[in-house]
Amino acid sequence: MAFSFFKKSEKKEEPVHNGPHYYDLKVKNIVNETKDAITIVFEQPAGKKIQYKSGQFLTLIAPVQGKEVRRAYSLCSSPFTDDDLAVTVKRVEQGLMSNWLPDNLKAGQSLKVMEPMGQFTTEYDAKRKRHLVLFAGGSGITPMMSIIKSILSQEPESIVSLIYCNRDIDSIIFRDELDKWQTKYEGRIHVIHVLDNAPMNWQGYSGLLNHDMLVKLFERIPNWGLEKTTYLMCGPEGMMKNAEVLLGEHKIPKEKIFKESFVQGILDKKEEKSAAASGEAKTREVTIRYDGQEYKVAVAPQDTILQSALDQGIDLPYSCQSGLCTACRGKALSGKVKLDEEEGLSQSERAEGYVLTCVGHPLTDDVVIEIG
Ligand SMILES: Cc1cc2nc3c(=O)[nH]c(=O)nc-3n(C[C@H](O)[C@H](O)[C@H](O)COP(=O)(O)OP(=O)(O)OC[C@H]3O[C@@H](n4cnc5c(N)ncnc54)[C@H](O)[C@@H]3O)c2cc1C
Ligand code: FES
Repeated sequence: MAFSFFKKSEKKEEPVHNGPHYYDLKVKNIVNETKDAITIVFEQPAGKKIQYKSGQFLTLIAPVQGKEVRRAYSLCSSPFTDDDLAVTVKRVEQGLMSNWLPDNLKAGQSLKVMEPMGQFTTEYDAKRKRHLVLFAGGSGITPMMSIIKSILSQEPESIVSLIYCNRDIDSIIFRDELDKWQTKYEGRIHVIHVLDNAPMNWQGYSGLLNHDMLVKLFERIPNWGLEKTTYLMCGPEGMMKNAEVLLGEHKIPKEKIFKESFVQGILDKKEEKSAAASGEAKTREVTIRYDGQEYKVAVAPQDTILQSALDQGIDLPYSCQSGLCTACRGKALSGKVKLDEEEGLSQSERAEGYVLTCVGHPLTDDVVIEIG
């Protein structure tokens, strides 16, 4: 356990801390999508509906192997077209939560979830005319499903193209639904499947996404020009890095590309990237402002700001704890914070002073972070 403490600001009198919003959501239905992916459909709470944006995720919280485990799952439902909330979970080998859910959760049970979060979103406007080009790999299709439903239903003049990479034909999640949409919204949605291992009679593409393949894929989707086109990607790290490089070769600027990462990069995990490793060896006090309260948290060099706060029972919002999902995002109003992992934040967010407490370490004694 880390050496840390917190005290509520002397200025405030016994404030009531509400923390992030949690819900006990009833599982309405569980759909087997493929041999290793399920969709969990949750009923909206009886009272006030949970508001969310396409591209956001829910944090599912479950007792796995005797401890509380929480993981982020992107909503595949759309607030515009679906009454219920739905997430799709794909099994990860040896993974705690992704195997616990399909093996244990049943319709009729309830599950604790944290309110929807995430910045992988866009606003919809019926007057807009744009082209979204989506790259999805495996379970990375989930936020894309929500975004596709929203854009097709909310922006009659916009179109969407999906390049969807999978291991083999049996691992394509939502294949039938995507086929149906291509008929229903003819000309407004183009789906191109790319498989690692294609069957003999496969009409689509197979193999690794490379320059030549991308040239061919781009010939098959409408070209609305750079101004009207935005590129979104979500999938395995390798696929996204590859797609980003290829888009760069096609002179598509980085500002036009938006990514959602589900898993921390292998390189990042291998490196010992703690503040202690970088020579920072002093426990520092951080001020956290959250939900109308102010807390002082001592952060030891080997600990993150979030971990130190949680150790002291401060119920801060968090989900992935790897610097990916931004659930723990706050703005540093003063002081310097070092992040072990910066991928979750855009360049402009970093420039504005945003930090992720789950991978953040104070480098100065005057760090003040405002969350929410
Ligand atoms: C913002 C966000 C949204 C997400 N949305 C979805 C979603 O819609 N559907 C979904 O299935 N998952 C999604 N994930 C991933 C999910 O949160 C879990 O990380 C995943 O289910 C594995 O959790 P686990 O407990 O089973 O594995 P763990 O016990 O945490 O990990 C086991 C091992 O598997 C590795 N690993 C973790 N995830 C993956 C992966 N995706 N592929 C390969 N190796 C992995 C870990 O690095 C670790 O080595 C999302 C993650 C984030 C950050
Ligand atoms: S908890 Fe996901 S980025 Fe910090």
